[in-house]
Amino acid sequence: MYELWVGLELLSVLLLFILGWIAGSKAAGLLYAGTAERLRRKTRSLLIWAGVVAVCAAGALTSIWRFYDSFGLYFWQDKVMLHAPLLAVPVLAVLLAAVPKLFVLFRAAKGGSGPMDAGLRERASNPLLVVPFRTVPLAAAAVLYLALVPEVPLRPLEAALPPLVVLLAASALWLLHGSRSRHAAREDAVLPRRWKRALGKLGMLAALGAACALLLYSARQSSLISDRIDMASGPADFGGGAVLAHAGHGAVTAAAAEAAVSVTELTGPRAETPDRTFTLTAEHASVKLASGKTEDAWTYNGQIPGPELRVKQGELVEVTLLNKDIDEGVTIHWHGLDVPNAEDGVAGVTQDAVIPGQKHVYRFRAEQTGTYWYHSHQVSSEAVSKGLFGTLIVEPRTASEDGAETKDITVITHVWDGIGFAVGDSDVTKRVAVAPGTSVRLRLINTDDWVLQRYTLIGAPFKVAAIDGTDLNEPGELRDTALELTTGGRYDVVFTMPDRPVYLAVGGGRLPGLFMSPDGGGELPAVPAKLPVFDPLHYGKPAPTPFDASSPFDREFTMVLDNRLGFYNGTFGQQYTINGAVFPDTPMFMVKEGDLVKTTFVNRGMVEHPMHLHGHHLLVLSRNGEAASGSPWWTDTLSVKPGETYEAAFLADNSGLWMDHCHNLSHAAMGMSMHLMYEGVDTPFTVGRESVNHPE
Ligand code: C2O
Ligand code: CU
Repeated sequence: MYELWVGLELLSVLLLFILGWIAGSKAAGLLYAGTAERLRRKTRSLLIWAGVVAVCAAGALTSIWRFYDSFGLYFWQDKVMLHAPLLAVPVLAVLLAAVPKLFVLFRAAKGGSGPMDAGLRERASNPLLVVPFRTVPLAAAAVLYLALVPEVPLRPLEAALPPLVVLLAASALWLLHGSRSRHAAREDAVLPRRWKRALGKLGMLAALGAACALLLYSARQSSLISDRIDMASGPADFGGGAVLAHAGHGAVTAAAAEAAVSVTELTGPRAETPDRTFTLTAEHASVKLASGKTEDAWTYNGQIPGPELRVKQGELVEVTLLNKDIDEGVTIHWHGLDVPNAEDGVAGVTQDAVIPGQKHVYRFRAEQTGTYWYHSHQVSSEAVSKGLFGTLIVEPRTASEDGAETKDITVITHVWDGIGFAVGDSDVTKRVAVAPGTSVRLRLINTDDWVLQRYTLIGAPFKVAAIDGTDLNEPGELRDTALELTTGGRYDVVFTMPDRPVYLAVGGGRLPGLFMSPDGGGELPAVPAKLPVFDPLHYGKPAPTPFDASSPFDREFTMVLDNRLGFYNGTFGQQYTINGAVFPDTPMFMVKEGDLVKTTFVNRGMVEHPMHLHGHHLLVLSRNGEAASGSPWWTDTLSVKPGETYEAAFLADNSGLWMDHCHNLSHAAMGMSMHLMYEGVDTPFTVGRESVNHPE
C-alpha cells in the first residue's frame, strides 16, 4: 500500500510537470492567436487544460493526505511542508486568477472575426492569466526534485532552496509577461515573428540545459570520496544523550586523542591455548556444483560455500586467514556473533584487508549458541556474491537433555553468477533420507544480495526455534505458513519427521529446495501459492529481558532509510540513504559503555533494507507502533520494509567501532553504511580511494 501512494504522488507530479508545461506554453501563446476567432478556440481549450492541471494536482494532494493520515511524521513531513504548498499555490492561482480571466477573454473574443485588437491582446497576455500556468511546471519540477532527492529529516536550508528558486522564477516570469503585456496593449504594437519567438525559447532552453549540466557536474565532483577517511571521524550523533569525547577529527580534544583506546587493543583472549583452530585460505577456484556446472568463485579453502565451522559454546576459537590470490584483499567477519571489536573482521575499521601472501589471526570465545555465518568484509558486495562465505554453528555446551539425535541440516542459500540459485553447493533439489520420528533442525541462512527469500515447509507442522541465532521462547506450532528471510538473516526451523515426505521449497517452489523422506525418494509436492508469511512480532511466549520498551534509554537514535537519485563517488544512480545521506556523510552514533540505546528505523524508501549492526543484538520493541508481544525477538539483521517503522533497543556492552549497514551489500557499497562508535575509541585503519580498505 505504501509503495502505491508513493507511486501515485510521483506519477501525478510527473504528469503535472509535462501537462503543466504544455498548458503553460499554450497560455503564453494566446497572444499570438492572430484572429479573435482563433483566440476564442484557444481560450476554450486552455480552460480544459486548467481542469487537467487541477486533476493532476488533486492526485498528488490526495496521496499526500494519505501519508499524513496513515503514516508517521517522517513519512509526511517533507510532503506536507514542501510538496503540498508547492503544488497547491500555483494550481490555486490557475483556478482562482487565471480561469476567471479566461472566461472574460472567452466572452470578449466572441463575435469578433478580424485580427485581435489591442484590448484583446492585453487581456490575452495578462500576467495574471499567463504566469500561474507557467509556474505550475516549475513547481512540479521542484517537487519532483524534492521527491527524488529527499532530505529527511528536513534540513531547513536545503529544504528552502527549491521553493525559493520557484519563487524567483515566478517573479521573473511576472516581470517578463508584464512588460510583454504592456507592449501588446499598444495600438501600434508589432508582435515578434514566430522564428524570433522560437529562437528566444531555444535560448531559454539552452541556458536551462547549461545550468543543469553545471549543477550535475558539481554534484558529481562533490560526491567523490576522499582518498583517506578515518572511520572514527564522521558526523557525530549523540542520540539526545550526553556529548561524548571521541578520538576522531572534529570535536576532538588533544586529551581525548591521548586517552583513546585503539580498536586493535579490543581483542579476544590472545594468550590462552585455543580449543579449536581452523585455517581458511582465500583463493580463486573453479568449483563444481551438484548439476555439474562450474563456477569461477572466490573461495575459502577452494570450496563453495566455505567450510562449515562447528564449535561448542564457550570454546576459544582461533581462525587463521591466509590470502593466496584474491588481489582485492579479504577479511572474515563473523556475522551475528558478538565478538570483541578487534576480531570483527571489517577492513578499514578493525583491521587492514589481508592482501595476497598475508595472513590474519582471529580469536574469540564462542559465547552465543546458534546459527551464524562468516564472510569477507572487504569489497563485501563482490566478495560475498562470488563465494567468500560459509556457515558458523555454535552448538550448546551440553547435548539436548532427552538425548535424542537431531538431524541438523544447514540450508545456506545463494545465487551464483551464471548458474543461479543453490542450497549449499547443490543447484538441484537435494534429497535426504530422514528416518520417521527424527527431530530435524533446518538452519536457514540467506546470503544473497537484495533477495527476500521465501521458504515453504510442506508435509509437517514446524516451529521457528531461533531467529538470528537466538532461541525463541515457547515457539508455537506452525503450518501453512511461509517463511521470508532477509539477506543476512537466519531462521532455525524444527520439526519431527513424519512417515511421509517433507519438502522445503524455496522461492515458492521455483528454485531448488530440500526434499526429505524416509528413503530420500518420492515426488515433490505442489507448493501452495498463497500462504500467510511468518511474523515474529507476536510469536511465542514472553520471557524476561534485561530491558524493555519502558526502560529509561540513555540515547535514542533515528535511522530514516530512503532512496534518492544522485552521484556516489562519481557514479550516478539510485542511492540508498540513512538520514538523507550516504557514507561518509551518514551519522556516527555515539555511545558509551553501559548505555541503553533505542533505535527507531523508518523506511520511507521503495525497497526493503535488512539493517545489520555489528557486535550487538537488538531487541525488537515495536513495529508501526504495535508492541512486540511474543517471545523476546532478538535480531542482528532486521528487515525494514517500505512504509515500516521499527523500534529496537540494545545495550552498549561491547566497546569499539562497529559497522551498522544495510545487508543488501550492493546498497552498502553505494553508501548505505554508517557506524556505532564508543566513547574514547580510535582506529588506526582508514578507508577511502587511496586506502587498501574497501569494507563494502
Ligand atoms: Cu554480514 Cu557488516 O556484515
Ligand atoms: Cu538496503
